[in-house]
Amino acid sequence: MVDRLTGKTVVVMGASSGIGQATAEAFARAGAILVLASRSTDALEALARKCRSIGAPNAIAVTTDVTDAQAVRNLAARARSLTGAIDTWVSNVGGRRSRWLR
Ligand SMILES: NC(=O)c1ccc[n+]([C@@H]2O[C@H](COP(=O)([O-])OP(=O)(O)OC[C@H]3O[C@@H](n4cnc5c(N)ncnc54)[C@H](OP(=O)(O)O)[C@@H]3O)[C@@H](O)[C@H]2O)c1
Repeated sequence: MVDRLTGKTVVVMGASSGIGQATAEAFARAGAILVLASRSTDALEALARKCRSIGAPNAIAVTTDVTDAQAVRNLAARARSLTGAIDTWVSNVGGRRSRWLR
C-alpha cells in the first residue's frame, strides 16, 4: 500500500486511540496527507509525530470536539487548505470513552 495515497488528504476523526489510531497509522504508511482530530491534544500530537515518521511527513493534529459544529467546520477548512480538497473523511468518533455511550 506504500505511496498509493501520496497527495491525498485524509481526515481521521477519533484518531487519538483504538480503531482511529490504527486507521491513521495505516493511512500514514500509505503516504496520505493526514489531519488527525479528537479532543486529546497530547495524544494527537504524539500520533502525528509517529505518522510523520512512518510515511506521512505532513501529518498534523487539530484538536476538535465533534459536538462543536464550528470546531468541525474549522477542522474541514484546515484540511481543505492543505491541498484544496479533502479526499477521505473517517468518522470514527464514539467508542468506550464517548459521553454518548455512557
Ligand atoms: N472497539 C470495538 O470493538 C468496536 C466495535 C464496534 C464499533 N466500534 C466503534 O468504532 C469506533 C471507535 O471505537 P474504539 O474502540 O476505537 O474507541 P476508542 O478507543 O474509545 O476511541 C474513540 C475515539 O473517539 C474520540 N472521541 C470521543 N468523543 C469525541 C468527541 N466528542 N469529539 C472528538 N473525538 C471524540 C476519542 O478521542 P478523545 O477522547 O481524545 O476525544 C477517541 O479518539 C466507535 O464509534 C465505536 O463505537 C468499536
